[in-house]
Amino acid sequence: MKKVRTAPLPPYNPFGPEEVATVAEVVKSGMLSDFIGRDCEKFLGGKHVRELEQRWAEYHRVKHAVSFNTASSALVAAIGASGILPGDEIIVVAYSMCISATAPLFYDAVPVFADLEEEHYCMDPDSLARKITPRTRAVLSVDLFGQSSDMDRINAVAKRHDLKVICDAAHVPGCEYNGGFAGTFGDIGVFSLNQHKIIHCGEGGIAVTNDDNLALRLQLLRNHAEAVVGGLGYRDLTNMVGGNFRMPEMEAAIATEQLKKLPRLLKERIELAEYLTERLSGIEFLTPPKVREKSSHVYYLYPIKYHEAATGISREEYVHRINELGIPLYRYAAGYIKPLYLEPIFSERDSFKNGFPYSLLPQAERPVYRKGICPVTERFYEKDLIVTSYTYPPLTKQDMDDIVKVFEKAGRSATGLPSRPRSAH
Ligand SMILES: Cc1ncc(COP(=O)(O)O)c(C=O)c1O
Repeated sequence: MKKVRTAPLPPYNPFGPEEVATVAEVVKSGMLSDFIGRDCEKFLGGKHVRELEQRWAEYHRVKHAVSFNTASSALVAAIGASGILPGDEIIVVAYSMCISATAPLFYDAVPVFADLEEEHYCMDPDSLARKITPRTRAVLSVDLFGQSSDMDRINAVAKRHDLKVICDAAHVPGCEYNGGFAGTFGDIGVFSLNQHKIIHCGEGGIAVTNDDNLALRLQLLRNHAEAVVGGLGYRDLTNMVGGNFRMPEMEAAIATEQLKKLPRLLKERIELAEYLTERLSGIEFLTPPKVREKSSHVYYLYPIKYHEAATGISREEYVHRINELGIPLYRYAAGYIKPLYLEPIFSERDSFKNGFPYSLLPQAERPVYRKGICPVTERFYEKDLIVTSYTYPPLTKQDMDDIVKVFEKAGRSATGLPSRPRSAH
């Protein structure tokens, strides 16, 4: 059987001469990091760090942006800044990069998993409401794949129960929601600038907040709070043991150039994705991503729901055929991420010795981490979802046409292709 496509799909590279020039300038200056972990002017970092933070806050229309060396450390700091204490419960989702659920463990808090929405793949506000107990202190939602969580409803639940809201907005810089931007509708939002993201600087993260005290606490945790709070006369010492989570100048300078390009990069990505959605819509065994009302979708990833009943072909066999026909899907395309509560760190209750921090809770009240607790998430992982990433520039509408041809052909029973070896998944 002939491949539909033999030419490789070009990689994504959002860099140009602007990033090269700014890196050269930083290197020539000799100042690769201008932070000092003391109560002094340099506590807030150097000129590129400050410029990035100011531009990020302006662009996303939020009062404060605090840069970090990764979104992972920003999420950990967000939990600490929110005053989370040992034994507090934090409601999270299971279908995300692991730090979205493990960040609470850094403060000996206990993650409790809520299920996902059927159509938009973000936290289901009804499931969130059902998981609340007297110990719940915060919700950590994830704006998965490229659009915002339903922050109106999540915030309504959080308000009723006096919960802090942290938005993992790693996938969604520049994503519009309800007249504002994803990541800015909770107490703290966290964006990622790692290598794989729409804009990036290799590794990096940015936390945003409209709350002055939370911004200061994030800055403290980023930069050795313990050595700074005394000099500052800062009195709320809860969790005020910091780290070096600082972003270096070169990364900040690159991220600043990347941010300038964000509107163009999003426009190109959205155009390709909308074209792909229109073309895939006629295929009865696929459901392209749906965009939430009053929101945009920035398509960091492009999730497709697959209906095995309409083809009689398992999702794994279907993905195998797509690869054979010339569109190489990445390794985790079929199913994306195993629900995090099935990982031993949760399922064996063994993050630390003696079952800590779960042992802080009475035995009968400890959350259960086993198959069945989030059925929608599990179905996405086991059967329904294929997660692709081919809606980026410099790909073209012709590339989208090739993708559509392959996706259609792979689902028709007689491709003449050899079947996938049984053990491959
Ligand atoms: C949803 C989500 N949250 C958090 C992170 C962590 O980001 P970082 O690699 O910048 O630490 C990622 C990374 O891919 C992610 O996808």
